[in-house]
Amino acid sequence: MVQVRFLGHSCVALTDGYHRLIIDPFLQGNPTAAIKPDEVEVNYVLVTHGHGDHLGDAISIANRNGATIIANYELANLCAKHGAKIHPMHIGGAFNFEFGRVKLTIAHHGGGYGSDASVYTGPAVGFLVTLGQKTIYHPGDTGLFYDMKLIGDTNAIDLAFLPIGDNFTMGIDDAVLAVGFLRPKIVVPIHYDTFPIITAPPDEFAQKVQGSRVVVLKPGETLEI
Ligand code: NI
Ligand code: MN
Repeated sequence: MVQVRFLGHSCVALTDGYHRLIIDPFLQGNPTAAIKPDEVEVNYVLVTHGHGDHLGDAISIANRNGATIIANYELANLCAKHGAKIHPMHIGGAFNFEFGRVKLTIAHHGGGYGSDASVYTGPAVGFLVTLGQKTIYHPGDTGLFYDMKLIGDTNAIDLAFLPIGDNFTMGIDDAVLAVGFLRPKIVVPIHYDTFPIITAPPDEFAQKVQGSRVVVLKPGETLEI
């Protein structure tokens, strides 16, 4: 059993009861954040790309917890410069950690650090995480891509998070197509309603999806899979 807690925007916390992971911990400055960065207790921090709404508080959380940051090579090394313990990876590569397996997937999106995102942090990535016998897909920020079908064909995905907010990522209709490619048991919409520019109604997404169960989580809510 894996407990999944949505913390707002693209941030999710995962635990199998033994290991604690957080993905894209943008909490400070996130108007929808369910908790404060100081409250996070984790062993691993996974970061999909360098944009502020994903890297967020990753470095301070990792340093305070002695946690390891898992990210692409460029972004991981930037985090190491700020004192964080890191495990660099890159697209297509997987590694067996003590908690389970992580594979980096492509994402069609940018990656940059700083208030103007001008420090290059490599391409954005997604994560396929295997934890507690469950396979969880967090695509980070991305547009729709047809290789999601390959990801769906080669992995039995228990839970997929999908951005629906449009403008910077997929919108609702493309996210519905993504569900068809990935065929997850459960899909949770993310990356919407944090800011006015990414307003999207999750109920419309839920109505349009076929073949997978949509679970809309409010920030702070948990789901057990
Ligand atoms: Ni981004
Ligand atoms: Mn984003």
